[in-house]
Amino acid sequence: MIESIESLKQEITAFTIQTEEDLEEFRLQFLSRNGKVQDMFKMMGSVPNDQKAKVGKAMNEVKTIAQNRFDEAKENLSEKKSVSFGAADDISLPVLPSYTGSLHPLTSALKEMKQIFLRLGFNIADGPELEDDFHNFTALNFPPDHPARDMQDTFFVRRSEERPQDNLVMRTHTSPVQIRLMKVKEPPIRSIMPGRVYRNEAVTAKSYFQFNQVEGLYVDERVTLGELIETLVMFAKLMYGSDVKYRVRPSFFPFTEPSMEMDIWWDNENGGQWLEILGAGMVDPNVFDAVDVDSEKYTGFAFGMGVDRIALLRYGIDDIRTLYENDIRVLRQFT
Ligand code: DAH
Repeated sequence: MIESIESLKQEITAFTIQTEEDLEEFRLQFLSRNGKVQDMFKMMGSVPNDQKAKVGKAMNEVKTIAQNRFDEAKENLSEKKSVSFGAADDISLPVLPSYTGSLHPLTSALKEMKQIFLRLGFNIADGPELEDDFHNFTALNFPPDHPARDMQDTFFVRRSEERPQDNLVMRTHTSPVQIRLMKVKEPPIRSIMPGRVYRNEAVTAKSYFQFNQVEGLYVDERVTLGELIETLVMFAKLMYGSDVKYRVRPSFFPFTEPSMEMDIWWDNENGGQWLEILGAGMVDPNVFDAVDVDSEKYTGFAFGMGVDRIALLRYGIDDIRTLYENDIRVLRQFT
């Protein structure tokens, strides 16, 4: 009796279960109502009383083994099913890469610029992209026949030969925001004014028909040219590192006197070159007069920076058009 129980036990452990069919076969052979485990228990009747306890224990053990094998095999098979591959799947193929988003280089540059000027005590203001003639030109001391007012440079939204003061333009610079600010706020004013501007210009690697500027304005009693230069140099060093190569040279703008421009040395494969990043100067008294700020009492400095060029220099991009084409292969380099 004990031997036949032992041999059933061996049969159960030796049975290979690899498929759903094997599993069903195992169940039928051993665990079903007419299976071998039940048959084994039927023999209990012929077991002498004094051996019943021992034989019963051995039989229960075999039943447990059979049930455990069944449960384990069933679980393994269902796990396999969930990761099973079809014939067409090639599990040696590389996993598809997953991408996280990134800030556009213009956004990053602007963010850095804002942080620098907030640190220097400036606050942030803004104004509209659609401007009238007064804010974009007249109040900024542009003479009526100034070339910047011309078709060549300006996108006109409304243009009238008889009443040029009714002209509406896409702002050609962020300087009109200075005018808006000074009209509503008494000095002291210390603000930057970031925004998009438009120019009817030929598109090249260095210029585009739309770009971004950060305007700056500081008006108070006794603001000096020295403070302007100090501020610009501080900006260049914070933006590009203290070993940045820069130069400041005289220039001309209708709304500042004296005026200047700042260049940053751009190291590239062709040996490098100076790149102009901003215009600046002391606010012209005519501008103060246009917005009723007392030019006897106050002085001020102003600057207008090109965010796009600053971004090109900061991130080593060599073509401004790259910033507007939104080529995903380029943008992914900035993660
Ligand atoms: N608005 C000028 C431009 O777009 C830049 C500029 C120059 C702004 C001098 C200023 C300034 O505020 O003082 O070319």
